[in-house]
Amino acid sequence: MPQMSQIQIKLNAKSNLLPSSDKLGFGQYFTDHMFCLNYEEGPGWNNPRVIPYQNLSLDPAACVFHYGQALFEGMKAFRQTNGKIALFRPSFNTQRMSQGAARLCMQAPPEDLLLAGIRELVKVDQKWVPADRSASLYIRPTLIATEPFLGVRPSKEYLCYVILSPVGSYYKEGVNPIKIWVEEEYVRATPGGLGATKAGANYAASLLAAMQARTKGYAQVLWLDVNHHFIEEVGTMNVFFRIGDTVITPELNGSILSGGTRECALRLLYDHAVKLGIKVEERKITMAEVMAAQKNKSLKEAFGTGTAAVISPIGELHYQEQAWEIGNGKMGSLAQFLYQEITSIQYGEKPDLYNWIEQL
Ligand SMILES: Cc1ncc(COP(=O)(O)O)c(C=O)c1O
Repeated sequence: MPQMSQIQIKLNAKSNLLPSSDKLGFGQYFTDHMFCLNYEEGPGWNNPRVIPYQNLSLDPAACVFHYGQALFEGMKAFRQTNGKIALFRPSFNTQRMSQGAARLCMQAPPEDLLLAGIRELVKVDQKWVPADRSASLYIRPTLIATEPFLGVRPSKEYLCYVILSPVGSYYKEGVNPIKIWVEEEYVRATPGGLGATKAGANYAASLLAAMQARTKGYAQVLWLDVNHHFIEEVGTMNVFFRIGDTVITPELNGSILSGGTRECALRLLYDHAVKLGIKVEERKITMAEVMAAQKNKSLKEAFGTGTAAVISPIGELHYQEQAWEIGNGKMGSLAQFLYQEITSIQYGEKPDLYNWIEQL
């Protein structure tokens, strides 16, 4: 564990005010400071520092601009009911960054140093952690290749930085059900590709389908596999369906991102299965199975899971030129249960039986 004294701190002479929670939206405001860490061949990772939030200065030939070696993470800090600040499963995200870095041939920042930097940054900017239960502080670790050169090979220099953004709800609908377009032309990821990583490239690949869905009045798309057969994810979330008394989520297949919220939802569903009267299955699920369940009225609910929205109920699915209302267009009981359980732990209202919380 690196000593905190290794992290240099330079405070910002200017400090902005935290907007009121109803104005926050998602990713619109940034705090006064950022954490940075550099990698060069030879010295390795060096110069961990918290500095005033500022522009980056990079050579136009920097590898990230051309060959897209870029990864990010998304996690949150919460102001708990006792006033203390808590990080939610921070090491899940630093581990996922290391796994993504390996896939993209990038140097991964040492997880303990990145965690120490995140803790220090959130402490320095603690006034930015909203007190309101609808809001939190989103933490965005980012890893980019900075070596200036042309030619396709892994960079020998990297910058890892962390920025913070106080956030309200991700969707303008809040926890109300969203309308989803089942995407039958474009795919987000392919077997053997980058889908299991948070590479920036995956999000660029998703934009056209998402924009087209939006112009038709749909908040996000449901991603299918390359043959438009198996269900993969929904927008930037993992997806769950309740068919009869069985809760099904697609198994991790290498093209699906292994979501932290998916893990939490599965843990809670397995542990409360008897009380909830459900069975839980991680397996392949096709659109045909979901449509058959919708038609015979056994599709009880569908929802997405992700750090930004926590749980997002799906109120409508548009598939093959028809719109289908799911669960009377209302938030279902399982989505409600999971949202309550997870947010109660995040805000310190319920005991943290799973050690998901790290208080600062
Ligand atoms: C493509 C994709 N799938 C799933 C998720 C959910 O992951 P997590 O629960 O770790 O936020 C995200 C969001 O981070 C995502 O971008």
